[in-house]
Amino acid sequence: CEQVTIIIIIINPGFVLVHFDISPASTDDPDIKQMMAGSTLRKVKSHSWKKHRHFRLLEDGLTIWYKSRWAGRGHSTFSVSDLETVRDGHQSELLLSLSEEFPSDQCFTLVFHGRRGTLDLVADTPEEAKCWVDGLRKLIHKSQTMDCKERLDQWVRDWFTKADKNKDGQMTFKEAKTLLKMMNVEMNEENALHLFTVCNLSLCVLEQHTSASLMSPLLSRDEVWKVFQDFSADGERLLVDELENFLQIEQGEREGRAQELIELYEPSEAARQQMCMSLEGFQLYLCSPHGSIFNPDHEQLHQDMKLPLSHYFISSSHNTYLTGDQLRGQSSTEAYIQALKRGCRCVELDCWDGPDGEPIVYHGHTLTSKILFRDVISTLKEYAFKTSVFPVILSLENHCGLEQQTVMAQHLKKILGEILQTSLINGQVPEQLPSPQDLRGKMLLKGKKLGGLEQRSDETITDEVSDDEDGEMERESVEDLTKDTADSNKQSKLSRELSDLVLYCKSVPFHGFEPARASGKCYEMSSFSESKVKKLTKDGKGSEMVQYNVKQLTRVYPSGMRTDSSNYNPQEMWANGCQLVALNFQTAGLEMDLNDGLFRQNGGCGFVLKPEFMRKTDSEFSPERPESRPGYRPLRLSIQVLSGQQFPKVNQKEGSIVDPLVRVELYGVPKDQSRDETSYINNNGFNPAWNETLNFVVHVPDLALVRFVVEDYDKASRNDFIGQFTLPFTSLQPGYRHVHLLSKDGTPIPHASVFVNVSISELT
Ligand SMILES: *[C@@H]1O[C@H](CO)[C@@H](O)[C@H](O)[C@H]1NC(C)=O
Ligand SMILES: *[C@@H]1O[C@H](CO)[C@@H](O)[C@H](O)[C@H]1NC(C)=O
Ligand SMILES: *[C@@H]1O[C@H](CO)[C@@H](O)[C@H](O)[C@H]1NC(C)=O
Repeated sequence: CEQVTIIIIIINPGFVLVHFDISPASTDDPDIKQMMAGSTLRKVKSHSWKKHRHFRLLEDGLTIWYKSRWAGRGHSTFSVSDLETVRDGHQSELLLSLSEEFPSDQCFTLVFHGRRGTLDLVADTPEEAKCWVDGLRKLIHKSQTMDCKERLDQWVRDWFTKADKNKDGQMTFKEAKTLLKMMNVEMNEENALHLFTVCNLSLCVLEQHTSASLMSPLLSRDEVWKVFQDFSADGERLLVDELENFLQIEQGEREGRAQELIELYEPSEAARQQMCMSLEGFQLYLCSPHGSIFNPDHEQLHQDMKLPLSHYFISSSHNTYLTGDQLRGQSSTEAYIQALKRGCRCVELDCWDGPDGEPIVYHGHTLTSKILFRDVISTLKEYAFKTSVFPVILSLENHCGLEQQTVMAQHLKKILGEILQTSLINGQVPEQLPSPQDLRGKMLLKGKKLGGLEQRSDETITDEVSDDEDGEMERESVEDLTKDTADSNKQSKLSRELSDLVLYCKSVPFHGFEPARASGKCYEMSSFSESKVKKLTKDGKGSEMVQYNVKQLTRVYPSGMRTDSSNYNPQEMWANGCQLVALNFQTAGLEMDLNDGLFRQNGGCGFVLKPEFMRKTDSEFSPERPESRPGYRPLRLSIQVLSGQQFPKVNQKEGSIVDPLVRVELYGVPKDQSRDETSYINNNGFNPAWNETLNFVVHVPDLALVRFVVEDYDKASRNDFIGQFTLPFTSLQPGYRHVHLLSKDGTPIPHASVFVNVSISELT
């Protein structure tokens, strides 16, 4: 029998059982074997910083460890689960620019989740590079496809590895105490001593308790047990009818799902055969995607994609090329990749004349670095349709002279080819915009255009377009506002070749709702700063904006005063029907949480259908007066916050344990902006229980977003952010649900969740 060490840590009122199997991760794979043996790779940070580091995969099969070959003790580690993907060859700007020095087959780039950036590496031989690329891909795939149980196992392993400081595969009392602190549990010495035992069993003993019964104490949760008891006649298991009962009464599930859920989540073979669910299976179901607060059906593409573009909210980014702030930040093609991966469908290119006749993209008049227009277009081509098949709009902010505009047009045609929509669908001048379905796999150019679509053949339009009051120019920064007016009024020329590439997204100045109603074309669109939209929708003009946006597209961008790349609340703009609400994707926070929250539905494809009452030209909907719309039907939302699970520590200081509270925030029309929070719980980030109910009235459920935020209470200063999750109100599932938390940059925090009981009812 193999030796297995089991550590039991008991925590009042529940207890945790941590088991650890010391046999290392499977090493049959030759790539993994070589990674464990280690390799010397060159870490490349810049043209001058290229240093050798010794890399290896630790025995847990998950942690990559590396250190400088010569230096003494310092080393760094990261986990395979931090990695999003591995790109081979010259697939980063830096490696591409060093292609003469390092051959493609020795180069690869590790891409981390969220905003953590990339790591460029160069191996000494192509074989070694291939081994790392293939090996890492296998490990990443494995870490992304683990099921509930494997994840739990991994979680135990992770904690054990972190706590087992001397790496002897065993845990001393001192290490166990550190582990408790890391797990966010406060416990005094005496209690800990009393409750801590180390068992040393052999695998034979283990087999007698099946692995399921070993795991269940780890998951043991009082509040879940109570719910289970309410529906189980014998208190041991839920028969298929009892489970069905629970699903219908509490979870609002459609009929006949019990059997399917037993097959999916019940770990015990015997229970599955008898068609019943154990407490453990019940907990696994509640922690699964089916038990999540977010309706799993909405993770799929489920909306009609055949309506005009203007009927959708479209995920849009502002200053896409920037990775940092607007004045000093880096411009990078990587920023385009990141935005597209988050589902963005409208990217911005700020184009200026560059040296050697090549147009460049950067934030004009600032110290930001510059990238080549053609490199941006190549990157877009490569990544545009990896996350979504629906169209991408290239929003051009064109500051180039005629010559380089023509170069831009040539690059667009040559690099994008078929991908760029350059002719009218069916050769027809449209009455309404084409649909996302019509434009699958296509890119649309948004920019100025000489003449309209109608006069294409017999145009007699002047070659001059005025920059003045143009909808597309969004420079509003201090220096530009004070610039000589003569300069901003000057006539600039537009290249015929570039103009011809603009079809369905022609930038025009906005002259008011009245002229737009009289003669606006569906393919004409304007850009507004956030403050302009606020002005336009003030004094009950909201419904005019909503009607205008039924036929024509609107792009909204942050005020020019936001030189720190901060964002505005996109919800206000969506509530007025604006489709392209451009945010600084590189800036984490509430506004991006709302954007991610809205676009989480419909398969994350970057298009979300507007509510029906906002898609009619005679729409009477006004966000200011939701009750005046026919069909107004407010709802009551009640969220009972039951418990929290495994919140990460926010303060790395030894001995600091979080005092968590949960706040629920509602975003929607002005009447729906509200929030409420639980009290905080002292010193327990591991399994706090609240049992507090927060109540809301939702006037326009179709436009509302619900944001769950967990914070560490601090009486002396601002609370610290722990995690959040935002979702559309219409994607909320009722009943007992887990809210799986995301970090500041939108990546999952493993195992951290809030357990809630949601009920939605008519307001009477
Ligand atoms: C566990 O058992 C092994 C083998 O019997 C022994 O070497 C080890 O010291 C034991 N560990 C503890 C913590 O008792
Ligand atoms: C939670 O609150 C409800 C209503 O306030 C009460 O009936 C229930 O007993 C409480 N449950 C726990 C576990 O405290
Ligand atoms: C959860 O909500 C439902 C519906 O409001 C209620 O019947 C049930 O008692 C709640 N559960 C708990 C544990 O309070």
